[in-house]
Amino acid sequence: MVVESAWSGSYLGCGTAHMYMLNTSLPRDGPKHTARRITLRAKGILAFMALAAYVGSVGFMLSRERDQFLRFAIELERVYSQESKLAKASYAVSHSILKWDVAFFSSPELDPAFAEQVALDVELAQAGLVGVSEFYPELAGDIDRMNANVDRLRAEPSRASLVWMRDHARDLAERLDRVTRQLRGRKNVLWDNYRREYAASSLKAALIGSIGAAAFGAAMTLFLARLARDVQDFASRALQIVSGQRGLSPLAVTRRDEIGDLMEAVNRMESEMRRWEQQLELANEQRFHKEKMAAIGSLAAAVAHEINNPIAAIAGIAQSMKDSCEAARSPWGREQPDLILAQTQRIATISRQIAELTAPHPAEAELLDLNTLVRNICTFIGYDKRFHNIRLVLELDPQIPAITAVADHLTQILMNLVINAADALEDIERPDPTIVVATRASEGELLVTVTDNGKGMNGDVLSRAFEKSFTTKPADKGRGLGLFLCKALIEGCGNRIELESTLDVGTAARIYLTLPERAVEQ
Ligand SMILES: Nc1ncnc2c1ncn2[C@@H]1O[C@H](COP(=O)(O)OP(=O)(O)OP(=O)(O)O)[C@@H](O)[C@H]1O
Ligand SMILES: [Mg+2]
Repeated sequence: MVVESAWSGSYLGCGTAHMYMLNTSLPRDGPKHTARRITLRAKGILAFMALAAYVGSVGFMLSRERDQFLRFAIELERVYSQESKLAKASYAVSHSILKWDVAFFSSPELDPAFAEQVALDVELAQAGLVGVSEFYPELAGDIDRMNANVDRLRAEPSRASLVWMRDHARDLAERLDRVTRQLRGRKNVLWDNYRREYAASSLKAALIGSIGAAAFGAAMTLFLARLARDVQDFASRALQIVSGQRGLSPLAVTRRDEIGDLMEAVNRMESEMRRWEQQLELANEQRFHKEKMAAIGSLAAAVAHEINNPIAAIAGIAQSMKDSCEAARSPWGREQPDLILAQTQRIATISRQIAELTAPHPAEAELLDLNTLVRNICTFIGYDKRFHNIRLVLELDPQIPAITAVADHLTQILMNLVINAADALEDIERPDPTIVVATRASEGELLVTVTDNGKGMNGDVLSRAFEKSFTTKPADKGRGLGLFLCKALIEGCGNRIELESTLDVGTAARIYLTLPERAVEQ
């Protein structure tokens, strides 16, 4: 199983500037929205317009209802006016009949002046009938008949003419009574219709009003509830960020207004802060490594200085012992001075290697012999007690060209990889626990491999191995920064690193360093 790393940080330079910079460009995390943006102000205006349109259409509908009621009122008014005219006409006719009856029974002969009085009564009744005949044209004939009767009464003022006229008047009174009853019936129907329409219209208005109020209220409640929930999410996310929580899944931004902008901004802020803090942590780690190496370096230099004098003295004594033996041509005691000389030589080499490795290096990239660097690192690290039972094998290709790199960075990377390999071999019952560090040139690149036959990694651990703070080790042994740091340093210079691992078999970490074009041509 192979995993390649992917570093998205912005590490600047390969040794010239040991600085990480906060990238303040627009968001790289979180969803991108292309939907049209509607501001809260626009939403408010839309809601107002919808409300105004609703109120307008309800008003229009109610005005049509009002027209209907107006028609009812006009009709009723006409009926009342007809009724009053009919009542007046009926009264005039009945009153005349009464007067004629009195006259008829008061004397056997009719007074000639009585005919004139009757004519006046008839005119009065006719005046009442004129208004009524507008609505009931069939009554117009009765008016003419009354005129004819009056003319007859004037011509022959007799009781017979009066009886005739009175009979006609009675007929007319009955017809007026019938018409009045019909009109009342119509009036009652009109009133019933009016009441029914009024009740239906009131119900309709109440229903429309309450449905509109309920719909508007529900829309406002939903809008405000969603707004409150989003603001609450936003506030609690801001608190989480302030309290130092990182790596949170971005807030789901489902709205396209100012609150949505705020939520996107808080998502962006979280990812930028996370990036910035990681970069800061990396920078701290590197500074810590440098300080540690500098302390070891000055100690190593002091120790080397102190032991060099006794070593030189011991070597001098061994040499003089050897010279004495040779001068005496004695075969006895020659081998012991050689042994002492070889061991003093070894002590001197070790102290030089440690001093070289830990000596302060320039922060800039320099031309390096990778094999020498690997050798010095392995010698230095081999004194760690974790390596006492481990075979540390170097397979260094002597043909590889020199590379331009920052010695401190390479030291840090290789030490992390070799220590990881040693940790993977800890507590493993294996006959031959081995770490192989190899170098070789391949297709324009230098390949450095650190292989172990340790416990290996399963798919999940392998896929997360480069993550910051991911570790399977106890807190006092690992912080999960080693591979994260390696990846940042390697990829920051345009190089790459990959891991291959099989559970219970072992792991290979490969670093591909790009060679300068000149070295490739050679
Ligand atoms: N050679 C290896 N063999 C088996 N597992 C490994 C090997 N190298 C790394 N791992 C796994 O990857 C994890 C992450 O490694 P990394 O070097 O980043 O952190 P660490 O070693 O746990 O802690 P730190 O390096 O900060 O001391 C380790 O905890 C371990 O589980
Ligand atoms: Mg590690």
